[in-house]
Amino acid sequence: MSESKAQVTETSMLPPAQRGGRVKTHFKRWWWVHLIIFIAVFLIILLPVVYVAYPKIAQHDVNDSTLNITSMTISNPTPESFSLKQTQVIGSHSSFHPKIYAFEAVVSLLGAALPFATVDVPSVKSKDGAELVVEQIVDLSNASAFGDFATAVMLNEEISLNIYGKPGLKEGGLPKTTVTYNQTATMKGLNKLDGFNVTEFHITKLGSGQNMNGTVFIPNPSVMTISMGNVTLDLSVAGTLMGQSYLNDLTLRPGNNTFPMTSAINQTSILSLISSKDNPYKDGLVPFVITGNSSVYNGKELPYFTEALAANNLTVHLNITKALNEFETSL
Ligand SMILES: *[C@@H]1O[C@H](CO)[C@@H](O)[C@H](O)[C@H]1NC(C)=O
Ligand SMILES: *[C@@H]1O[C@H](CO)[C@@H](O)[C@H](O)[C@H]1NC(C)=O
Ligand SMILES: *[C@@H]1O[C@H](CO)[C@@H](O)[C@H](O)[C@H]1NC(C)=O
Ligand SMILES: *[C@@H]1O[C@H](CO)[C@@H](O)[C@H](O)[C@H]1NC(C)=O
Ligand SMILES: *[C@@H]1O[C@H](CO)[C@@H](O)[C@H](O)[C@H]1NC(C)=O
Ligand SMILES: *[C@@H]1O[C@H](CO)[C@@H](O)[C@H](O)[C@H]1NC(C)=O
Ligand SMILES: *[C@@H]1O[C@H](CO)[C@@H](O)[C@H](O)[C@H]1NC(C)=O
Ligand SMILES: *[C@@H]1O[C@H](CO)[C@@H](O)[C@H](O)[C@H]1NC(C)=O
Ligand SMILES: *[C@@H]1O[C@H](CO)[C@@H](O)[C@H](O)[C@H]1NC(C)=O
Ligand SMILES: *[C@@H]1O[C@H](CO)[C@@H](O)[C@H](O)[C@H]1NC(C)=O
Ligand SMILES: *[C@@H]1O[C@H](CO)[C@@H](O)[C@H](O)[C@H]1NC(C)=O
Ligand SMILES: *[C@@H]1O[C@H](CO)[C@@H](O)[C@H](O)[C@H]1NC(C)=O
Repeated sequence: MSESKAQVTETSMLPPAQRGGRVKTHFKRWWWVHLIIFIAVFLIILLPVVYVAYPKIAQHDVNDSTLNITSMTISNPTPESFSLKQTQVIGSHSSFHPKIYAFEAVVSLLGAALPFATVDVPSVKSKDGAELVVEQIVDLSNASAFGDFATAVMLNEEISLNIYGKPGLKEGGLPKTTVTYNQTATMKGLNKLDGFNVTEFHITKLGSGQNMNGTVFIPNPSVMTISMGNVTLDLSVAGTLMGQSYLNDLTLRPGNNTFPMTSAINQTSILSLISSKDNPYKDGLVPFVITGNSSVYNGKELPYFTEALAANNLTVHLNITKALNEFETSL
């Protein structure tokens, strides 16, 4: 090293032509030293960039990104599984647009001890607005955790999901690195079915069995489409069970839903209630408390939907006097 330095000083004092010759000889002789220095400098700069800064930047950008769930469809439910189709949009301010490899994500209700599902997230080129579609059959690793999720969806205006995984990530020609994906996605829930109503209600025959029908109105402010199968609801008045209502093949879609409903009501009980001397419902309007009884799909009860339905009591006021008058005039 010191020898080459001395030579450099020496050559600079020679006339240009001769100097060029000396430089050439110098490089001919010492090229390997220059090559080693160049490689060393290159690696000293590059290695930290590639193996320290790049994964850090990548992780930072992944941390900074957001995830919006824009649609979610739960269909073909069984007690152990369901079909899931979910679309989500990535939000990112980063100028890097790396490829994120397919990975397994564990999904849980934010704050829950256990996840309710593991989903296969496909590979995606990460950039603002990139759409990610997950479509698969989800095995319920823990149906009870999914029941907690379904109940949270039923009761809350908004729910937060935690999505966790360790995907591979690759930016251009840089090597593949692994990042930790730990995102919270917030979406709207069913908010206790706020706005639920029975908009039409008729007595179809006297006596027991299915003796009433009508129309229910269920608003769904979420982006979820949920197949709940055949839903049975218990109807009670002032704490006394009066009968049940049936909503067959119930699929709740985003927005306003209306479904036909049939009911089997103990008319003896109801009539004695409104015809009694101390009838508290003088205007004919009887407050029915509706409680979920069960959700059955293809003959199998779905405990997670049953739990979610049971967690939410609804009250509707039905004008029984009006329905009775209507029925009498129709005879
Ligand atoms: C990413 O977020 C995690 C917490 O979720 C934090 O521990 C980590 O330091 C963050 N990494 C970067 C590079 O910001
Ligand atoms: C995600 O949703 C929030 C709130 O609805 C919105 O402000 C944001 O722009 C959305 N991001 C993307 C990437 O769609
Ligand atoms: C399932 O999750 C619930 C809580 O969400 C927990 O109490 C139960 O022990 C879990 N069961 C199994 C088998 O992990
Ligand atoms: C994910 O991030 C949340 C905070 O946003 C933190 O509470 C949780 O422990 C993290 N999960 C893992 C597995 O690191
Ligand atoms: C329920 O529907 C009936 C019939 O359409 C209507 O008269 C009533 O005002 C509605 N109740 C509520 C709380 O919206
Ligand atoms: C109820 O049943 C009656 C007679 O069976 C029928 O005419 C009517 O259309 C039904 N209404 C509803 C809302 O299903
Ligand atoms: C849904 O129903 C509510 C209450 O009746 C109404 O205010 C709203 O405009 C309806 N929305 C749509 C999209 O029809
Ligand atoms: C209807 O209720 C009365 C008492 O209010 C009871 O005696 C009767 O057995 C009930 N009928 C049916 C079909 O459950
Ligand atoms: C559901 O309805 C059945 C009768 O159809 C009844 O035996 C059962 O007790 C009800 N369950 C609940 C939780 O109300
Ligand atoms: C609901 O009940 C009807 C009549 O019992 C049956 O034909 C139908 O297959 C059931 N639907 C589901 C999804 O189980
Ligand atoms: C719903 O009402 C039933 C009786 O009608 C009661 O036993 C139950 O505790 C109530 N559930 C909730 C969540 O309020
Ligand atoms: C219920 O219906 C009866 C008979 O149609 C009517 O006189 C009464 O005003 C109605 N009650 C209410 C609160 O609308």
